[in-house]
Amino acid sequence: MGKDSIYERIKDKAAFTLSKRKLKKILTSDNIDEVLESIKRYKGRGFYDKIRLAQEHNELRDLCIRVQKHKPKVIAEIGTWNGGTFYVWTRINPLAEKIISIDLPDGDYGGGYDEKRIKFFSEFTADRRNTSLSFIRGDSKSESTLKMLMSVLGKDTIDFLYIDGDHTYEGIKKDFEIYVKLMSPDGLVGFHDINTFKDGYGVHKYWNEIKENYRHEEFIKPGSRVMGNGLIYLKKD
Ligand SMILES: C[S@@+](CC[C@H](N)C(=O)[O-])C[C@H]1O[C@@H](n2cnc3c(N)ncnc32)[C@H](O)[C@@H]1O
Repeated sequence: MGKDSIYERIKDKAAFTLSKRKLKKILTSDNIDEVLESIKRYKGRGFYDKIRLAQEHNELRDLCIRVQKHKPKVIAEIGTWNGGTFYVWTRINPLAEKIISIDLPDGDYGGGYDEKRIKFFSEFTADRRNTSLSFIRGDSKSESTLKMLMSVLGKDTIDFLYIDGDHTYEGIKKDFEIYVKLMSPDGLVGFHDINTFKDGYGVHKYWNEIKENYRHEEFIKPGSRVMGNGLIYLKKD
């Protein structure tokens, strides 16, 4: 091992320790507005400098209100990237028992997260003994990912699923078809980018095909032609 890498490791350890301290200061509330505001307030060091969020504020806020009201025990997120929405799910749901992140390293639409970031994400629930976090770095549709997910779930089903990974029409369709079978009968499924019309983004097309089959809500900033959150309620009434 060269001098530089030892130096880098010491620097990283110091950055992590300082960032952990900074993070601890913002883990104070499960109030949605305070949680969303705390992301902006957090200023870590080095590799852990920020928690990045790829969302429109009110579109996420409205989704959070429904999710928090539902009191999910088991949450799974496809597409975590820099941890923004993952942080939000961990903080607004103090009663959650399992929160699972699934993300493809170097995946499209963000690039996933380095293994090193897992220890930082794990600190999001440092104050919560009842919540266990799991990180599956792989394609949401691959056999190995699903095997790992089943092992984390055990007999549990998913109460809230957030899909923000592969944004192609085929990708989102497969994700929904596979994961809906792992959901609780009254579960909620959130979709990001139901209102993005750029090349390579097919969520809007799939969302418009399936939404009428379910009770659903759309959270879209008036006049916007980007992002947007959709929510499906699997329970019919
Ligand atoms: C837009 S980012 C997620 C942003 C995050 N939900 C937020 O708002 O803070 C999309 C993530 O999906 C991941 N991804 C892309 N294709 C995937 C796939 N097939 N399976 C799992 N994750 C995937 C990418 O690696 C990327 O990190």
